[in-house]
Amino acid sequence: MKRFLEAKGLLVLLFALLLLLAACGSADESGGNDEDASDDTEQTEDGNDTENQDSNDQAAEKLVIGFSQVGAESEWRTANTKSIQDAIKDAGHELKFSDAQQKQENQIKAIRSFITQKVDAIVFSPVVETGFETVLQEAKDAGIPVFLVDRAVDVDDDSLWATFLGSDFVEEGRKAGNWLVEEMADKEGPINIVELQGTVGSAPAIDRKEGFEEIIGEEDKFEIIKSQTGDFTRAKGKEVMEAFLKSDGDNIDVLYAHNDDMAIGAIQAIEEYGLKPAEDITIIGVDAVKGAFEAMADGKMNVTIECNPLFGPQLVDLIEQHFAGEELDKRIAVEESMYTMDQAEKLLPTREY
Ligand code: AHR
Repeated sequence: MKRFLEAKGLLVLLFALLLLLAACGSADESGGNDEDASDDTEQTEDGNDTENQDSNDQAAEKLVIGFSQVGAESEWRTANTKSIQDAIKDAGHELKFSDAQQKQENQIKAIRSFITQKVDAIVFSPVVETGFETVLQEAKDAGIPVFLVDRAVDVDDDSLWATFLGSDFVEEGRKAGNWLVEEMADKEGPINIVELQGTVGSAPAIDRKEGFEEIIGEEDKFEIIKSQTGDFTRAKGKEVMEAFLKSDGDNIDVLYAHNDDMAIGAIQAIEEYGLKPAEDITIIGVDAVKGAFEAMADGKMNVTIECNPLFGPQLVDLIEQHFAGEELDKRIAVEESMYTMDQAEKLLPTREY
């Protein structure tokens, strides 16, 4: 009986050992299967494993953005470039930047290069309004959204861009016209105006002229006696103003410059000619750059209509909203104001561009 009990005890022990071994084996197997499972998933075509999903999310957050800028022709442009570059970098996106040096062919090349490099989005400020249909269509065909900034294109198919963020240039021209009409309310005509236009064919040149003419055209006493492009630069503004002074000298009552840089160049020409800017000739500029505030504080310029270049952060928000699947308005206008000589000294230290 004793032997029988001992043998039975041994059997129970053996059985228990076997159970333990079996349990260990299955634990090992399940650990091995976890690793195998993750290896298998890594090789699946949809790549939906956790690791790949994480890297997909990162890719969706960090965008590669190509930015084709007009050039570096004015104080305004320099501030605009910096605002957009800083906002893209601050948001953690990668920027590919191209300066078109005011040439349309350079912009077309840059956009094609962005398409070849498969960027996620293209930011584009067109030098001129026309001639971009083909390249915009190429971007659309490649599935790359285009964000128009600052200047519009004259293209019927608005599906070629995600949104257009920029100033209302016609309204800026109207503001300049309204200011002049009020300023000259008590003056009898004729009031002779010379106009320095922006880059030929560019949206701000076309629209600022249109808005200004719409307002001054309501009164017979105003006449634009000379109008020529100064290409938005100081040097060209000075050169063209010299020519205006040579031909029309003391007959000029008002200068309307489509940007402050040209107005500042023209101020130099007026002084060299021997006249007093802002007294002998009323000076109107557009942009509200620091240089204009300095000229106004010195009593050499009468008014500047604001065109705000600091929309980089707003642009990046729009790009991110687009990639988050939000529907964007096709046209988003930048809010702007107008500043006169008497405000200049006080506001100068607060100007950001
Ligand atoms: O498109 C905006 C215009 O372009 C600015 O008024 C001018 O200064 C710039 O060069």
